[in-house]
Amino acid sequence: MSNIEQLGALVRTIPDFPKPGIQFRDITTLLQDPWGLKRIIDEFVSHYQYSPIDQIVAIESRGFVIGGALAYRLGCGLVIARKPGKLPAEVERQEYQLEYGSDSIEIHRDAISENDRVLIIDDLLATGGTCDATCQLVEILGGKVVGCGFVICLPDLKGPERLKRYDNHWLIEFE
Ligand code: PRP
Ligand code: HPA
Repeated sequence: MSNIEQLGALVRTIPDFPKPGIQFRDITTLLQDPWGLKRIIDEFVSHYQYSPIDQIVAIESRGFVIGGALAYRLGCGLVIARKPGKLPAEVERQEYQLEYGSDSIEIHRDAISENDRVLIIDDLLATGGTCDATCQLVEILGGKVVGCGFVICLPDLKGPERLKRYDNHWLIEFE
């Protein structure tokens, strides 16, 4: 098995979570495996180590784990993008559509400076709504999105098409 196949085998699939019909790809089993955690961070480091990056913007909640470790390894800053009402200082907020209804995501207004080169990190790309909204926040604050990185992509949900204006990278795909 290749490294990537081994990483895929560490992801647990939970049927009918959080709703009937959804096959939930659970990365907690990958994170708790010492080899798996090191491997995903090392894979991202080898992909991004020569890209000039000022800040990683990590998306709540599992994106924090990966974004934090990667920011440490790349020697850049870490900004957290959070669900509404969690960040204490002045925020910029962006709404996005879910299959039914909407959600929003926030970052601190002073977290991104004009022309900051920003890498967005999350655990999983599905429809791309969350990442798209996060990219818009970064751009509203004057940052430049240099890439979007994910451990998992579910290409059937068309996230890569929605984010096609960016340089997207992921490690594992599931149907
Ligand atoms: C999941 C996942 C991504 C997002 C992907 O987060 O971690 O952030 O959904 O979906 P999208 O590409 O369709 O926007 P979730 O909403 O489960 O939040 P959580 O990480 O706080 O549990
Ligand atoms: N796992 C984690 N987050 C998700 C998933 C999933 O399978 N689908 C949409 N967001």
